[in-house]
Amino acid sequence: MAENIKLKVGVLISGNGSNLQSIIDACEDPNFPAELSIVISNKAEAYGLGRAKKANIKTKVIEHQNFQHRSDFEKNITKALINANVELVCLAGFMRILTDTFVYSWKDRLINVHPSLLPIFKGLNTHQRAIECGVKFSGCTIHFVSSSMDEGPIILQAAVPVHQNDTSKSLAERVLDAEHKLYPMAIRLFANKKIWIENDLVKFTNIEDHNEILINPNIKN
Ligand code: GRF
Repeated sequence: MAENIKLKVGVLISGNGSNLQSIIDACEDPNFPAELSIVISNKAEAYGLGRAKKANIKTKVIEHQNFQHRSDFEKNITKALINANVELVCLAGFMRILTDTFVYSWKDRLINVHPSLLPIFKGLNTHQRAIECGVKFSGCTIHFVSSSMDEGPIILQAAVPVHQNDTSKSLAERVLDAEHKLYPMAIRLFANKKIWIENDLVKFTNIEDHNEILINPNIKN
């Protein structure tokens, strides 16, 4: 694949950046159809910034507290993304709610990872809530971002079992493993134009691609 036809991806983070790392690792494969153009953090101390620097990816810190208005914060983010020629924006543990204006300006080009099987457990503390509800499976979702929090057309989901003795930490680790597999898959599908949105639902060009993304746990484990 010629270098210049790769999809240019921008990632927004706030913290650890383990999902970012999974995207960095995927991009190291010469056959992966996307490349990282920029990583933006709203926190200067985000560990993920170091991961990006180590991989020689351009980074930028845009701290929300330096802006009186959310719109100015977001304008700066958009400016940085456009300057880096970004075509797809990936939220990966980015802990700021984005305004409708930002979401609209990146419509159908903005995706997020959420640590639950949406539409259940939107918002924070998903793993604790899953354990307290007694659900037997939890998981993660990659979805296009719409103006309502943790909503928008679902691209991929992976289910993981919830064990009887799970803590929110142990469940989070199991779900994170699934997130790390799923995010690069979603980027690959988007870059290869294998998915599109119809009536707020994600459709797959090829039904075999759809079958391949049905990741479920081995229930004997
Ligand atoms: C992930 O669990 C993601 O689903 C959620 O925030 C966490 C970020 O983890 N939105 P990391 O920064 O990618 O390690």
